[in-house]
Amino acid sequence: MNQKSENKEELLAHVDGIVRMVKIVFIAILMFPFVFYVASKINFDREEIAAVVEEPLIENGIDVESGLIVDEHYELVKGTCSACHSIALVTQNSATREGWKELIVWMQKTQKLWDLGDNEALILDYLEKNYAPKKQGRRAPLKNIEWYEL
Ligand code: HEC
Repeated sequence: MNQKSENKEELLAHVDGIVRMVKIVFIAILMFPFVFYVASKINFDREEIAAVVEEPLIENGIDVESGLIVDEHYELVKGTCSACHSIALVTQNSATREGWKELIVWMQKTQKLWDLGDNEALILDYLEKNYAPKKQGRRAPLKNIEWYEL
């Protein structure tokens, strides 16, 4: 090989390298929107899953997970009163505000329930309203009966 063809080959190799580089850059640019699109889709899905996980399932006004009636402060009750025992102990019971208060005091004295602080009044508000003693001993009187003439 003489000097001239050697130079030419070197030049060709050089050009080849540049072409390859341009190709890679070009493909990368072409891919970018696609990769971006896929990435945004993945993020979107993740947010959706998080929303599903965070959103409590509520059916007919009942929090399905705990069985508690959904009302103001129910999440506080759910969090506080399920720490030691099944929340079913709460949903299966009913009492007056005083009754619930006594129960809390009893748990504090004998079951290591902590001082509920300002939350106690909120919890009692909820329990008094939603788990009051059931007044109807028997079925409710019939109403709006359409008597027909005999
Ligand atoms: C520090 C633990 C603890 C926490 C928190 C707790 N309890 Fe209790 N509770 C107990 C224990 C222990 C018992 C007795 C469990 C048993 O009988 O199986 C009990 C029993 C009960 C009972 C049944 C009482 C009975 O007469 O059988 C009810 C109702 C109750 N808890 C309601 C609540 C409510 C409402 C809260 C939220 C304010 C709460 N508990 C939070 C420990 C706790």
